[in-house]
Amino acid sequence: MGENAAPARKSPLPIQPRRCASRSRGGVRDRVGPPIRVSTCIARDPRHAACTVTRRVASGTCGGVSMKLLNRKWWSRIGLGLLGALVVIQLVPYGREHTNPPVTGEPTWDAPETRALARRACFDCHSNETQWPAYAAIAPISWLVQHDVDEGRAVLNFSEWSRPQPEAKDASEEVREGEMPPAAYALIHAHARLSSSDRDRLSQGLARSVGMAAKQ
Ligand code: HEC
Repeated sequence: MGENAAPARKSPLPIQPRRCASRSRGGVRDRVGPPIRVSTCIARDPRHAACTVTRRVASGTCGGVSMKLLNRKWWSRIGLGLLGALVVIQLVPYGREHTNPPVTGEPTWDAPETRALARRACFDCHSNETQWPAYAAIAPISWLVQHDVDEGRAVLNFSEWSRPQPEAKDASEEVREGEMPPAAYALIHAHARLSSSDRDRLSQGLARSVGMAAKQ
């Protein structure tokens, strides 16, 4: 039996850090770290009994494909990339123009309280009196906000009662069933959260103000 006779096919893999050869693309090559455990040892350093060459027998990158691949350098590159993207998307004009169109007419509210509740819970999306929060100027949030407001105003606009509002007849029911205001919006906007009595009063008030008799 020669020295190399039994290069310990099943010998445990070395766990001390070593230079680890890997795909040469993108900076992964020169990393130092333990080899992945799915490799098999095919050559050893005779002096240290350390494995010098390993062969991968399963998929995976040098050092594993887990978080090790994303070492600090990579995280910082990713972070910088995201930051750069965030800066660049601010140049997109969509969602930056926040001037409210004029109010051309409102429903005949049955009571000031109905209007007050609607103002709290609905007006940001269904009127021309949208309160634009500061973060609504920052993409990509601004895109979501703009989309909600555009769509909301298109289906029902309490500030443009001079034009037909065919969806208005559904408003009372939407409130009663808790469909409106949208849950995600109410989560962020405390002022729009309706207690169950608020909900009842708004729903009834809307039925009286814009209910089934709404303009078609
Ligand atoms: C965050 C923005 C937002 C708020 C706040 C909001 N809505 Fe809406 N609403 C929308 C959007 C967007 C649509 C259109 C898409 C949809 O139907 O979900 C809509 C649709 C509607 C519709 C038409 C639904 C249908 O399909 O017939 C009614 C009626 C309505 N909203 C009433 C209300 C009322 C009443 C309130 C206040 C209690 C309210 N909304 C608050 C965004 C909003």
